Amino acid sequence: MKTIDLRSDTITQPTDEMIDAIVLAHKAGRFGDDVIGEDEVVHELQEKTAKILGKESALLVTSGTQGNVISLLAQTSRGEEVVVENQSHTFLFEAGSMASLGGLFPKPVEGVRGYILPETLEKAISADDAHYAKTSMVVIENTHNYAGGTITTPQQVHALAEVAHDHGLKVHCDGARLFNAAVALDIKPKKLVEDVDSVQICCSKGLSAPVGSMIAGTEEFIHDAHRVRKRLGGGMRQAGIIAAPMIIALEKMVDRLKEDHQNAKQLYRDLIEIKGLTLEEPDTNIIFIDLRNFDIDTQGLSEELKKRGILVYGGYGTRTRFVLNRMVDSKDVQYVADMVKEILESS
Ligand SMILES: Cc1ncc(COP(=O)(O)O)c(C=O)c1O
Repeated sequence: MKTIDLRSDTITQPTDEMIDAIVLAHKAGRFGDDVIGEDEVVHELQEKTAKILGKESALLVTSGTQGNVISLLAQTSRGEEVVVENQSHTFLFEAGSMASLGGLFPKPVEGVRGYILPETLEKAISADDAHYAKTSMVVIENTHNYAGGTITTPQQVHALAEVAHDHGLKVHCDGARLFNAAVALDIKPKKLVEDVDSVQICCSKGLSAPVGSMIAGTEEFIHDAHRVRKRLGGGMRQAGIIAAPMIIALEKMVDRLKEDHQNAKQLYRDLIEIKGLTLEEPDTNIIFIDLRNFDIDTQGLSEELKKRGILVYGGYGTRTRFVLNRMVDSKDVQYVADMVKEILESS
């Protein structure tokens, strides 16, 4: 039985072209020691990323989590406060890195479909008073994982960044799935980050590279971020080995994210037919279904689906997550919908 893995888009395997790119770069002698700045492939990737994101400079990092924490630490000082959406990845799923590594105090606020409204940010900024931590940053997550792959539009980014900058705050975008937002809106990714000071993108999610994220911003930011990366043990030697597949990810894998979005829409249309099931139409490649009206819980559903060859993540309260990705086609989606229906209708 084929396994249909909808736990995350991080399970995507590298393409043959990615593996070939490693071999070709090796044969051409393009790898070098990136800690001393001598890997040509890493340079190519960094220049390409900066251009795509419309920023002065970019830096290779090991993961989304590392890219986010480096971006925060490079633009803040210990004891300062960072406004985060209360279901954001930086707040919930990064092992408390901003606090433990940066001495930063996360200030969680409620968003609307993952977006922090400008008026919410305005209220969250602490007064300039010795009793309070200085609020120095806000984080946008685009697309927003926990809210269901929801998009923050360039207009929304602009409105939030305007309030932030008026109060002297920096704006960081956790763009682990920024390209999903860009493709869904049919705009260039740089449009989504014009107003932010730093951005992190992952090549290892829907874009299918085996490893690697990028951060981008001004030359000054990247200069400081480089030192923080070193401190965190993120200096890598012949790092072109991971950069080569990332270049293919950026060049060849962005447009196909549309297929994941179409499959998500198809899954939504099939699942919405199930009586009592609560779910929102997906903006991109992530769907959550809410089982609050059923006797079966998320763990029970995951176990039943696993028996039928389908893997999903259930640990979101009463919600189960399905992440459409390159390893899943529209025939698989039909099968998944049929199986969810079968399980829920008999529960
Ligand atoms: C929105 C978001 N940000 C950041 C990350 C962290 O990425 P990584 O797993 O590469 O550390 C993830 C991972 O799933 C994510 O979904």
